[in-house]
Amino acid sequence: MLINESISSKPLLGGLGVSILAIESSCDETSAAVCRDGKILSNIIAGQQVHEQYGGVVPELASRAHIQNIIPVVDTAIRDAGCEISNIDAIAFTRSPGLIGSLLVGTQFAKSLALSLNKPLIAVHHMQAHVLANLISEPKPSFPFLCLTISGGHTQIVLCESPVKMKVIGETIDDAAGEAFDKSAKLLGLSYPGGPLIDKYALEGNANCFHFPEPQVPDLDFSFSGLKTSILYFLQNAGKSHVFKQEFTATEEEKKKFINENLIDLCASIQHRIITILLNKLKKASIETGIKNICIAGGVSANSGLRKAFREMGEKYKWNTFIPALEYCTDNAGMIAITGYHKYLAGQFSDLSVTASARAEW
Ligand code: KG4
Ligand code: ZN
Repeated sequence: MLINESISSKPLLGGLGVSILAIESSCDETSAAVCRDGKILSNIIAGQQVHEQYGGVVPELASRAHIQNIIPVVDTAIRDAGCEISNIDAIAFTRSPGLIGSLLVGTQFAKSLALSLNKPLIAVHHMQAHVLANLISEPKPSFPFLCLTISGGHTQIVLCESPVKMKVIGETIDDAAGEAFDKSAKLLGLSYPGGPLIDKYALEGNANCFHFPEPQVPDLDFSFSGLKTSILYFLQNAGKSHVFKQEFTATEEEKKKFINENLIDLCASIQHRIITILLNKLKKASIETGIKNICIAGGVSANSGLRKAFREMGEKYKWNTFIPALEYCTDNAGMIAITGYHKYLAGQFSDLSVTASARAEW
């Protein structure tokens, strides 16, 4: 699959003094950012607590919260950047992929603003933007580079030849890495989103205490659904077996006791397995492509265990490793702004007929 845009006209000359306003609303964060000449001047993110009580994002509630948040968030981003709306040269927005109702709010807002200000519009692919979060701060990777992009909905290895030319060379065949964290956390009785909580508890635990199997998936693809099933059975059996065994099935009370007594070691062991699945494929991708400039990106790249293991692997195999600052790992408009800036330089604009799309393909 190519994440590569073809609506290109002639590249614009220079780029001096180019200010981009960016809007991100693909899931449950309403975010706006301003960048000038590729430097982020503001990055405002409004989260939505309303979903916590439901154990996951409720699409209808997310759309409604975006409608409430979008004007104050954009206002604050412009004010924090120290500029006026009239100083903006183009409006970038997340067009796909994501929750359609959420995307529609940002898309319609960006289109209306572009129409009223008579400014160009730049449609951004959310996963492409996660990759380019690595171009926000120094040191930046040189091209070509590989990026392991790991979020709540995607797990991909991307070969990036330029800011506007990328190719997915491996991806998950079932759950995403973020889902593996969140679903494991749910099985452990932790609240949503569970990824950051597993990260926190894992810091105290023994990663080698429990062994969860590594799936055998061909090429550069990933699979996480087997891990989830094996954790489910392991807990149902109160730690006696990874496969379903009637004779070991624990009562709800025994299961809870097992989890309570072993929570930190369970978190550390589950996290360790997710990290080894990810990094073993990344190592394979580096060997196959011969590329040693390697980045990680997306919400799961905020994981402290992964960041450490990735740096260690980089030292071992003499990679140049890059990780975005924490605020640019999880969903944010800063990464949409930087992508918008590069698309501006490449002359990749959209007209007002552009529509939001829930799907990952362009
Ligand atoms: O990129 P992102 O903010 O949104 C999507 O595009 O999906 O990623 C969200 C995912 C969630 O699954 C969340 O649990 C996970 O990133 N995540 C983490 C951590 N912080 C966020 N997973 C593990 N450890 C973390 N520290
Ligand atoms: Zn994301």
